[in-house]
Formats: sequence, C-alpha cells, structure tokens
Amino acid sequence: MCACPTAGKLNDGKRAVELLDSRRKRLYKRSHMDESKRTFAARGGGAFPTVGLGTWKIPDEVLPTLIPDAVAMGYRHFDCACDYGNEVAVGKGIGAALSGGQVSRDDLWITSKLWNTYHHPDHVRAACERSLSDLGVDELDLYLIHFPVTLAYVPFEERYPPGWFFDPDAENPAMKHVNVPYADTYGAMEKLVDDGLVKRIGVCNLGTAMLRDIRAYARIQPAVNQVEMHPYLSQQRLLRYCQEDDITVTAFSPFGASSYVPLGMAKATESLFDDKVMKGIAGAHGKTIGQIALRWAVQRGTVAIPKTETVEHLKENIEIYDFELTAADMAAIDGLNRDRRFNDPAEFGEAAFNTFYPIFD
Ligand SMILES: NC(=O)c1ccc[n+]([C@@H]2O[C@H](COP(=O)([O-])OP(=O)(O)OC[C@H]3O[C@@H](n4cnc5c(N)ncnc54)[C@H](OP(=O)(O)O)[C@@H]3O)[C@@H](O)[C@H]2O)c1
Repeated sequence: MCACPTAGKLNDGKRAVELLDSRRKRLYKRSHMDESKRTFAARGGGAFPTVGLGTWKIPDEVLPTLIPDAVAMGYRHFDCACDYGNEVAVGKGIGAALSGGQVSRDDLWITSKLWNTYHHPDHVRAACERSLSDLGVDELDLYLIHFPVTLAYVPFEERYPPGWFFDPDAENPAMKHVNVPYADTYGAMEKLVDDGLVKRIGVCNLGTAMLRDIRAYARIQPAVNQVEMHPYLSQQRLLRYCQEDDITVTAFSPFGASSYVPLGMAKATESLFDDKVMKGIAGAHGKTIGQIALRWAVQRGTVAIPKTETVEHLKENIEIYDFELTAADMAAIDGLNRDRRFNDPAEFGEAAFNTFYPIFD
C-alpha cells in the first residue's frame, strides 16, 4: 500500500475513471442498440424516425405543451393532417420546442396530408401551403395523399377543415364524389417537391394494385404508404410488396381498436390490451402491451405513429429501443392477424356520412 498522502485521492480518481468508463460502455451499448432501430433510411435520403406522435384527436389545448414534452422525451417525428383540425395547435407546440432550443427544425420530421376535397391539381398547392402556414414551417418532410377518395372542392373561406360532408347543413348531408384521376393529384404532389415545399411525397390507404399503377407513371416514387396496421391487421402481403419496392410502410392505429371504441367503430372486446398472447409477451419482457405492439411494428420494418395525449403513455411509447422481441415472439404476434380493419370508409362513410364509399374490397 502506498504511503503517499495523495494515494487515497489517486485511488478515488482511478475508481471514478473506471466508473465513468463502465457507464460510457453501458451508454454506448444502449445508444448502439437504440440507433439501430430509431430511424430507417428514407427513400430519397434522410432518416425517418421509427416512432412518431400521431396527432389525430389530440385537443388544441394539449398540443402546445405536449409537443415540447415529446421532444424532450426523444420524439422527432410528428404525424399531422389538415383533417385533424389541429395543425395550428401542433404548430404552436413545434414553435415552443424550437424556441426552447431543444432541437432545430432539421432534427424534426413533420408529415402532413392532403385532404380529399383538394385532389384537383388546381387545389393541391394551396392546401399544402395552408398546412405549412398552420404548422409554422417552411417545408414538410413528407406530404401524403390522405385517402384515395375524391370529394367536391370546398373553399377555405367556407369551411376549414372541410371534413367529409359536402354541406353539413343540408337536409340530408352526404359526401359528394367528383372524378379526379389519382395520377393528376399525384403529378401536382410531385410539383410540390420540385418547388421545394415538401421533401418527400407519399400515399395513404393504398393496396398493391394502386401502388403498382403509381409506379408506372410517377416521376418521383412514393416514399411512404401510410396504412392501418396492428397485430389484428398485419397486412403481410402489402408490407412485403412495399419493402420489395422500397416504400416505407407507416403503421397507423398501431394499437388497433383503442382509437375506434370511443367512435363506436370497434367493440371494447376487440382490444389488443386484453389479448392473452400480447399479455404473455409483455410479461416476459417486463414491458407493456403498448410497447410490445410498437416494438413488433418497428422490428418488422414499419414506422409506427401512436397517438396519445397522456404524458405517461407518451413516455412509454418511445421507450421501445432497449429490448428486442425474439423470433418466436414475432411469429406469435404475426399469428394474431384477423384481417380486422377498423378504419374503413365503406363502413364509417355509410354510418356517419350517409354515403357508401368503399376503397377496400
Ligand atoms: N392516414 C390515415 O388515414 C390515418 C388514419 C388514422 C390515424 N392516422 C394517424 O395515426 C395516428 C395513430 O392512430 P390512432 O390515433 O387512430 O390510434 P392509436 O395510436 O393506435 O391509439 C390511440 C389510442 O390508444 C391510447 N394509447 C396511447 N398510448 C397508449 C398506451 N401506451 N397504453 C394504452 N393506451 C394507449 C390513446 O389514449 P391516450 O391518448 O389517453 O393515451 C388512444 O385512445 C393518428 O393519430 C394519426 O396521426 C392516420
């Protein structure tokens, strides 16, 4: 043992270095694991954060603080749309996160969507500019065509967002279909990329036949197809086709029935959160069912955009990068598929908007 008076300090110093080193190694291990799935390479370049915050149905008063909270927890991706009616409030949240200096605009991925009433090429640019202005940004990372549904134009001054009815005050309000070829809308979306309003374009709610058709005429291929996807609607063939064609699939409603029970579009008994297989896997990993659903989504190569307005869920939903599902877990969750679609215009169009408007057969 050294008699030198500084020996204790030296030993303390050595121990501190060792501790720091092991902490660094642990952190490296964790961040290494994190980075492997935290983003996917986006078509056309850039990194697409694999968990984003869905903003449908989040009330205006919550968003200005929820978004900075989300950013502080590690969220970098926000999924928005004209139709959600809350892009101004999302913009306030994004503005607060940016002015707080937590992140710069380049660190964020912001998606918005073209509504059904703006498909005619004459209206696409104005609709995109309105979302840009409401969100308070100069450019979108991704702009999607929300549905393969073409409804009659409603001017901004008359109603914004216009929703599904042509005239909600009519005696028998209904949706009003107009013929606009999808290729025309898509061409106007490509122009938005040319003009620097959006970095990437994509589609939503499309199956393989329409995707193949777009591939035949697109100058700029769709980066993303955003579709309903969860363990009860795993859409294996669509996912495989998109992966082979380098289209990232974003899974919306990743928790299945949860979003639709309050809307009367799903039964409480269909909840993923009561599923025995999900419960078993969650228990084995010491994770929640929500985290298992999201981890499954990301591990099979999809981006997931869970919505929450609850801070506890917000935190939970981004903490999915520190564990891995086994091949057996993945297969067990794949096996839960029941082709159960909750968000189907053929169903809700008729039930809520007096119009039979099928897009899935
Ligand atoms: N392109 C399209 O046509 C389309 C269609 C539908 C949705 N989307 C997008 O996808 C996003 C997500 O889909 P979604 O909103 O339908 O449904 P979702 O994210 O699957 O589910 C949301 C529901 O789950 C609850 N929840 C969230 N985290 C939870 C957790 N960890 N544990 C238990 N419950 C949890 C939420 O309640 P709390 O808020 O209380 O947490 C809410 O009731 C939307 O917000 C929207 O951005 C796109």
